[in-house]
Amino acid sequence: MAKVQKINGIRGMNDILPADEPIWTEFEEVCKDALRMYGYKQIRTPILEATPLFKRGIGEVTDIVEKEMYCFTDSLNGEELALRPENTAGVVRSVIEHNLTYNAPQRLWYFGPMFRHERPQRGRYRQFHQLGVEALGFKGPDVDVEQILMARRIFDELNILPLKLELNSLGNLEERREHRQALITYFEAHQDVLDEDAKRRLYSNPLRILDTKNPDMQALVEGAPRLLDYLKNDSLAFLNRLEHLLSVNDIEYKINPRLVRGLDYYNHTVYEWITDKLGAQATVCGGGRYDPLVEMLGGRPTPGVGFAMGVERVLEVMREFGFESNEPDTEMYILHMGGETQGYAMVLGEILRDAGYDVIVHAGEASFKSQMKKADQSGATFAFICGEEEVTHSQVTIKRLFGDPSERFMKQETLDLNEAIQYFVDVQKEFLDEE
Ligand code: HAM
Repeated sequence: MAKVQKINGIRGMNDILPADEPIWTEFEEVCKDALRMYGYKQIRTPILEATPLFKRGIGEVTDIVEKEMYCFTDSLNGEELALRPENTAGVVRSVIEHNLTYNAPQRLWYFGPMFRHERPQRGRYRQFHQLGVEALGFKGPDVDVEQILMARRIFDELNILPLKLELNSLGNLEERREHRQALITYFEAHQDVLDEDAKRRLYSNPLRILDTKNPDMQALVEGAPRLLDYLKNDSLAFLNRLEHLLSVNDIEYKINPRLVRGLDYYNHTVYEWITDKLGAQATVCGGGRYDPLVEMLGGRPTPGVGFAMGVERVLEVMREFGFESNEPDTEMYILHMGGETQGYAMVLGEILRDAGYDVIVHAGEASFKSQMKKADQSGATFAFICGEEEVTHSQVTIKRLFGDPSERFMKQETLDLNEAIQYFVDVQKEFLDEE
């Protein structure tokens, strides 16, 4: 047969292989514990939404909507659909649709893949995962701070602190309008320095010019009018209260007047958690307040605030800090010599699983030596050996696989089945206590 060409995965969309499982599980468990502690409930929304949801929610004139969204027409019914580039819009859509904030405010969280057609590099992928929270119906700024505390708790539990927290206020609509005018005037006076993107955005969304990654425009952007200077009493009071609550909770942060975030729905609080371990893709978590969004998407005015962590980036930082999994992959590996001993081994496997243990029974037939090698590779702490002798006398031989290799054979014992199980239970307990 002619050689069949293999089909590869899509660029920028990664497989998460079994070897990565421990770090993903650690991340998910730490997050779930923290989210429960703060009363957040999980919401699962589809990865496909109607394209106009993101256009209206995130903003037509943003990098995400203009350049990075996977949009297509459903060939079966002509609907315009998009793979979600983020999930704040999706959660708000669902909250409106199901009237979730009718009686009570909501603290929600989600975890799952997001899709952005960006140029892939370390920490930047086309399919990536976010762990996000959205609190709806709270005016803040207490809840804004609660979410920052929650993120700090998660980072602390994952052993990736210190991270830097940068914060800014985008004020309210009126203040942004004034600032926008000032930006237009400023950039109009420097037309010669503007790149194509900036020229296009000058009148539609000048705030986005401040997001530019173009090095030739950095000096211009540095000198641009700052939104902070346009804040009036109410917005300043909001920011002051936020800062006060941060400092009584010992959260260190830096005000960064240039921080505007890449999505249009924000007002007041915006922030990013930044690492120095990942080079260019340094933001591991971004969030803020989005009071106008629910109304913009057709709901009754309801304040909102949330954040999303880039999971792949957080995991990279965990690796940089030397994450090691100390969970054994499995607890025991059962060896047998084929024939009757195989059935015996499978029955023993079921008994041990009934008792709650993780067991691999060797599949197929192989030499004792090769089975022992597999047992070692499996990460099991014990091997149970079911040879002809053992089966004839309803016994099993236990061999310990952890600790000093020279001691392993001394720890080998042949016991009656029930004794063996008890022995295993006792030694396993001792082993866990030592840990
Ligand atoms: P965002 O800043 O666009 O915010 O994304 C949040 C985080 O997702 C980023 O800080 C980054 O860690 C990660 N991320 C973004 N793009 C990529 C990528 N291409 N590859 C890997 N990681 C990436 C939002 O999405 C908002 N919805 C956050 C939010 C929730 N604001 C309020 N509520």
